[in-house]
Amino acid sequence: MILNTNDLRELAKRRIPRAIFDYADGGSYDERTIWRNAEDLDAMTFRQRVMVDVSNVTLGTTLVGSSASMPLAIAPTGLAGLFHPDGEILGARAAAACGIPFCLSTMSICSIEEVRAATSTPFWFQQYLMRDRGFNQELIDRASAAQCSALMLTLDLQVIGERRRDPRNGLTIPPRLTLRNAWDVISKPAWTLGVLFGKRRTFGNLVGRIGGSSGINTLAEWTATQFDASANWRDVEWVRGRWPGKLILKGVLDAEDALLGVAAGADAIVVSNHGGRQLDGAPSSISVLSEIVDAVGGRCEVMFDGGIRSGQDIAKSLALGARGALIGKTFLYALAAAGQSGVTRAIEIMRNELRVTLALTGTSNVAGVGPNILRAPSTR
Ligand code: GLV
Repeated sequence: MILNTNDLRELAKRRIPRAIFDYADGGSYDERTIWRNAEDLDAMTFRQRVMVDVSNVTLGTTLVGSSASMPLAIAPTGLAGLFHPDGEILGARAAAACGIPFCLSTMSICSIEEVRAATSTPFWFQQYLMRDRGFNQELIDRASAAQCSALMLTLDLQVIGERRRDPRNGLTIPPRLTLRNAWDVISKPAWTLGVLFGKRRTFGNLVGRIGGSSGINTLAEWTATQFDASANWRDVEWVRGRWPGKLILKGVLDAEDALLGVAAGADAIVVSNHGGRQLDGAPSSISVLSEIVDAVGGRCEVMFDGGIRSGQDIAKSLALGARGALIGKTFLYALAAAGQSGVTRAIEIMRNELRVTLALTGTSNVAGVGPNILRAPSTR
C-alpha cells in the first residue's frame, strides 16, 4: 500500500538496480549532512490549534511568477531518465497535471528539446557555470527557445563532493550489465527492458560533449574539467545579463551569500545543501532557513530544499519563511516506483498532508503560515 513517500522509496528500491537507487539516496562522504536534514526537520513540532474554522484550506501560490497549486516544485535532479524510461518527460507531465513547477537538470537523460516537445506547460531549466561559457550561452539559448519560464543556476557544485556509494556500486553512465551487477539488474526486468535496453541512456543535453560510453569516473573527471571551479559572483551577473527571465540561484546556505545573490539580481534563491551531496558537515538546510529569510528581507523569493519527505516538512519550511519547497530525492523515488503516476501520487500525498497539517494548526491559507504554527523553541 502506498500511503507515504517512504512507501514509494521502498518500492523504488525493489524496482531499480542498487547503483541507480543509491545515486539518489546517497550523499557525499559520510552522509552526515543528509541525516542532519532529516533530523532537524523531525525535531520541529507544531502548535496544534483547535476550534478554528478550517473548512476551506487553500494551498495555491506562485513561485517566481509560475502559478503553483501548492508551495512545491520538482527540483532539478541528474539522471531522472535512468530511474524510469522518459523520466524527465513523465516528471514534467506529472508536475504540470498537478499544477506545480518542474525544473529540468542539465544532467538529464531527456534533452531540453525532448521535454519541450513532449509537454505543453513551460518548465524551469537548471544549469551550472561551465568553464566553456559558450556552452552556458548555448544552454541559455536552448532554454529560451524551449520557452522555459525560469533559469535556475546551481552555485554549490564548482567542485564535486565525493559520493562514495557510486564507485562502490560501479555506477556507469550509460548503465551497463556486468558480472557484478548481473543478478541485481536481471531481477529488475521492467527497468532492464525499459532503461538498459531503452533508447535514451546518456545525458541528452550533453550529446557531443561527453563520450557515449563514459563511466562515472569519466563523469567525475568530466565534471572536474568542465565545471568552473573559479566561478564567482561576476559570473552570476554574466548569466543574469544574458537571461532576461526569472533567475533562481540554488545552493545558498549562508546569509552573506544570500545577500550577494540578491545583489547579483536573483529573483529567487533556494536554500539548499544539495540534498547532502556536496559539503558534508554543512548545516541542515532547515537550520539556516530563518536567518537567510531575515537577511533577504523580502528582496527576492526564498525557496527551500533538503530533506522534504512530507507535507508536514513543507509546512515546517513555510513556517520558517520559505515561499515553497523543492523535492529531489522524493521525486526520483516516486518516478522509479511508478513513473508518472508515482510522481503524481507523491505530490498528492504531500498535498493532503499539507492541507491537514495546516488545518490542525488552525491555518486556512498558505500565505498565513508563519512561525506561529511552530512550538518554540523548535526552529531547529
Ligand atoms: C548533481 O547535481 C548531483 O547532485 O548529482
